[in-house]
Amino acid sequence: MVTVQDLQRMAGEEPITMLTAYDAPTAEIVDDADVDVILVGDSMGNAVLGYDSTLPVTADEVASRTAAVARGTDDALVVADMPFLSFGADESATIQHCGRMLKEADADAVKLESGPHTVEVTERLVQLGIPVMAHLGLTPQHVNQLGGYRRQGTDQAAAERILDLARAHEEAGAFSLVLEHVPANLAAAVTEALSIPTIGIGAGPDCDGQVLVLNDAVGLSDWTPPFAREFGDVRGEYERAVSAYVDAVESDEFPAEEHSHVEEDLDELY
Ligand code: KIV
Repeated sequence: MVTVQDLQRMAGEEPITMLTAYDAPTAEIVDDADVDVILVGDSMGNAVLGYDSTLPVTADEVASRTAAVARGTDDALVVADMPFLSFGADESATIQHCGRMLKEADADAVKLESGPHTVEVTERLVQLGIPVMAHLGLTPQHVNQLGGYRRQGTDQAAAERILDLARAHEEAGAFSLVLEHVPANLAAAVTEALSIPTIGIGAGPDCDGQVLVLNDAVGLSDWTPPFAREFGDVRGEYERAVSAYVDAVESDEFPAEEHSHVEEDLDELY
């Protein structure tokens, strides 16, 4: 079982691998490949729920998907990604929503898209025994404020704000930090400044680990961000398999004899 302590030991020593998953069979494949951390990302909004952003995703959806992922996982650390407005507005509601991910859904930790508003709440959650992964840079739940899914931290002041917030979240007790879509030299500086592991997505090679949305990594998405790489062609495989099924049914080739059972005694029925 990978623990938050294992990740902290790995920082700077061996690369940490993290991928998203949203269901049990996929989690099983990811876990069997020895991925260290499975993130039940609110990217499920786009990846599996058919929304065009992460904003509509609910705590119920994350809890249900996290429980499925946890059932399919033996070793990886399972992190539930807290959806838009499930945290940060009210302390007691934040604790309820984050706590249920551990109590009901069997997550090992939660991730919060972070900012100045999550420093205190991170400290409180950690005091209560809920490990927190912070997330800075591009925080997609702020898409309406950011005016799109743009690279963040590109000028000196913005880069310094990210560095300061990274330090503040480490101080508050976060056990790791996701850095999304920031310049590689900023990610390198944050990684250097922190003792907790940084996990990058579109943040260059110098983070302590890397994360991708599973659909992008396996080639299932119909669009992938420029910083992602497709390591397979699962969409193509799905298309080939589904077309082959349709052809086989339409040409009476499926089901064949080996897929059917004839019960001799039922001849009496006719
Ligand atoms: O929701 C998600 O999948 C994420 C990762 C991209 C880090 O937050």
